[in-house]
Amino acid sequence: MGSPSDTAELTEFFTRVLGGEWHLYSSHILGHATETENQQAKLDLIAERLDLRPGARVLDIGCGWGGSLTYLASRYGVTGVGISLVPQQCAYANRRAERHGVPLEFRPSHWQDFETDEPFDAVMTTGVVVHFPSLLDYFVRARQWLRPGGILLNEEMHLLSADASASRASRALAALDDVRKKGREAGGRLVVDEEGNYVTLDEETALLREAGFEVERVVPLSMADYQKTVEGWVDNCERLEAELTELTGRDVYRWYRLYFRLFRRLIDDRTMRLDVVTARLPNDGP
Ligand SMILES: C[S@@+](CC[C@H](N)C(=O)[O-])C[C@H]1O[C@@H](n2cnc3c(N)ncnc32)[C@H](O)[C@@H]1O
Repeated sequence: MGSPSDTAELTEFFTRVLGGEWHLYSSHILGHATETENQQAKLDLIAERLDLRPGARVLDIGCGWGGSLTYLASRYGVTGVGISLVPQQCAYANRRAERHGVPLEFRPSHWQDFETDEPFDAVMTTGVVVHFPSLLDYFVRARQWLRPGGILLNEEMHLLSADASASRASRALAALDDVRKKGREAGGRLVVDEEGNYVTLDEETALLREAGFEVERVVPLSMADYQKTVEGWVDNCERLEAELTELTGRDVYRWYRLYFRLFRRLIDDRTMRLDVVTARLPNDGP
């Protein structure tokens, strides 16, 4: 049995729980024949929103296990970079990209530390920005990575209202933060993300404008699909208990299972909605 910080064990754990070929750690679009196709349907929607063409440079902030960018590179011929706080994710993603023969690079980095000499055509986040304490700081920084006329895409849940519904969501978030903290104390690198917060859609679009973007479009995604996506992760976690426990040990397995179960509680259409927001930088010149 491996220790919880072993690269191979953690990678195996997460890829088995998330499932499908691309191991997305964000909503799928359901209704297709296989889990992989459900994941691809979400990624096709992203490609359509970003108007991806061969050779476009895409930056995936919070790239998870690298499945999104690798699929987009294989299917749409884009190139690019993915960053994540988790080195295991980047190592796995680089191996995956190599296997698919696509020109991608995955690096462990906080977005605040990421710099580039060559501007990107698009920057994307899927299920990530809730971990950023200041969304405005992030959007201002994203401007610097993009070429003039470049596009930003953010898929994230939004609070339906900033007051009443927020309290339910913040209770669920507080419970998740508590699990993270206890998980760290238990010695597992459970989830390394910083605690953040959800905002309303109006708050997010106002921040995008403040950062100098023109908001192009908001495409709502199905909360029912997100709920079922996360239920799938919880089911995998429970169904594969014996082999996952073998990988990480019982304590760490239990922390991760609790983490997924608590996350499931957050996906609640009485308090939250899920959207893909796209926003563009103005073109330079006349
Ligand atoms: C829920 S996962 C989503 C992964 C991926 N976008 C997907 O849809 O499969 C969150 C990801 O955001 C990354 N992340 C969180 N905070 C970050 C930060 N400050 N800088 C860079 N990556 C971050 C985590 O390391 C993880 O890869």
